[in-house]
Amino acid sequence: MSRGGGSRVGQRDAVAAPIVVAIDGPAGVGKSSVARRLAKRLGLPFVDTGAMYRCVAWACLRDGVDRDDEARVGEVARRLPLRLAVSSAGETRLELAGRPVGDEIRTEEVSMATSEVARLPAVRTHLLELQRDFGRRHGGVLEGRDIGTVVFPDTPYKFFLDADVGVRAERRARQQRASGADVDTDRLRRELQRRDSQDSQRETAPLRRDPSYEVVDTGDLDEDEVVERLVQLVRVISRRTAGPSASGAPTAVGPATSED
Ligand code: DC
Repeated sequence: MSRGGGSRVGQRDAVAAPIVVAIDGPAGVGKSSVARRLAKRLGLPFVDTGAMYRCVAWACLRDGVDRDDEARVGEVARRLPLRLAVSSAGETRLELAGRPVGDEIRTEEVSMATSEVARLPAVRTHLLELQRDFGRRHGGVLEGRDIGTVVFPDTPYKFFLDADVGVRAERRARQQRASGADVDTDRLRRELQRRDSQDSQRETAPLRRDPSYEVVDTGDLDEDEVVERLVQLVRVISRRTAGPSASGAPTAVGPATSED
């Protein structure tokens, strides 16, 4: 995709200009699958920012770096040859030293370590720059914890996906059972709670349900319904922001409702 590119207009649900859509929310709420599908519908690149934090944690585990040693962890983050590549088909790929990142960053051990390194300003400052640079050049659907509060606080497209921790643990248990794993739902629930509290109680860029988000509770919705709801909200916000800014007036954007 070219510099300054973004959504491919002409696609059914594409919006007129390159935009950044922020999707934040707690662990296990289904942000990644929903964000990936939304990105496809809008013709935008999808960016899983959690995967970038996971790469830093994975490298610390590999190199035996103490996750409380901010200077060293920060150095790991800065030296990591991490790159977000966009193919000509608009697919985004996270690469480490030129190779696609795989499932090695998805283990429980890496998940817990990631929540620890993600507390550190030295790590966040570095990854924030990569995310902003990418979003400014290509637009995108960026998924994480602080996209709407810190990375792109000015985008009008901000969604917070939420669901009760019991619902999230049950969903995750079902997925793991389906792939033949032995599952302890209570343990999954405790792990989700621990990560949520680490992610929302840290000082730097905590997970926060800011009032500027449009909140979508996914508890009673299946994935198709969540995606449809987001596509609809993006259209509503797009119409709302196009009007006043087209005439040069400043645009005040608050949470959208489907009645807009
Ligand atoms: O979304 P995930 O489970 O892959 O995220 C892994 C961890 O990274 C999670 O504990 C929170 C952290 N994270 C973050 O602090 N900021 C982001 N923008 C994305 C993820």
